Amino acid sequence: MRSIVEIVPTHRVSEGGGFKVRRPARMSKVLSPFLLIDEMGPNITGPGEAVGAPWHPHRGFETVTYLLDGKMKHEDSAGNRGELNPGDVQWMTAGRGIIHSEEPHDDFQKTGGRTHGFQIWVNLPAENKMMKPRYQEIPASESPIVEKDGVWARVIAGECMGVSSSIDTVIPITLIHVKMEEGCRLIQHLASQLNAMIYVFGGKVTVFNQLRVKTQPRSFGLGTNQQVSDGQLALLSEGDAVVVESDTRSEFLILAGPELNEPIARYGPFVMNTQEEIQQAFIDYQNGTFAN
Ligand code: CO
Repeated sequence: MRSIVEIVPTHRVSEGGGFKVRRPARMSKVLSPFLLIDEMGPNITGPGEAVGAPWHPHRGFETVTYLLDGKMKHEDSAGNRGELNPGDVQWMTAGRGIIHSEEPHDDFQKTGGRTHGFQIWVNLPAENKMMKPRYQEIPASESPIVEKDGVWARVIAGECMGVSSSIDTVIPITLIHVKMEEGCRLIQHLASQLNAMIYVFGGKVTVFNQLRVKTQPRSFGLGTNQQVSDGQLALLSEGDAVVVESDTRSEFLILAGPELNEPIARYGPFVMNTQEEIQQAFIDYQNGTFAN
């Protein structure tokens, strides 16, 4: 069983055109292959007040946008455009380059309201960094959802309780949104070679490091705090499964993926392996050959 090895707190920062996100206070090698885990909002805005991320480039990784509340529109320099509604997932592989904008939808701006969701950046291995860009979009209506014994899960990538996502990931990624009633339990298989973590954004859960401790007091284990609360990212030890029990009604993401043991050269929206590749990204962007 996987247990918690570290709890990373989150803090609130402004991104893009000034929208508020909650993100882990530090990202490091142990979070590989995830480069960024941003909870967008929740923000409540009046008519015309919502802000997004105006035109900007990406190269060398993937962005996963998962909307829970609100309505967004996106557009890229290749002419692709679309909208995101609650429950929709957009898995964008920037690969060698995408220039896009991510903004509140006009319909949403008319009324204002609540915006909540996630944007997660998944790194690409060196050999795939310059791959052809692609989009995979799963509307809420086609989303793989599984519900059992007080546990609800949307499988964005990977598999949960026998239900699999149709998203094709470059490296094996698990990304699951889970909602649990109080006192419920989920046993999630996670291949042992993957880095894995849980981000709680509602309520409180306990991660058990043995299956049989359910009836025993909470003072077991390695002396580490096994409880994870709203706004905390728990990094998990090695193991092939995680057992999560909800202490209250709770909501969280389970994330897992292989650690990429490759150098990272990062400058804003470019994530490559060397400084030369970053410079090349700037040159391509300035020459207008970036997203061709
Ligand atoms: Co973007």
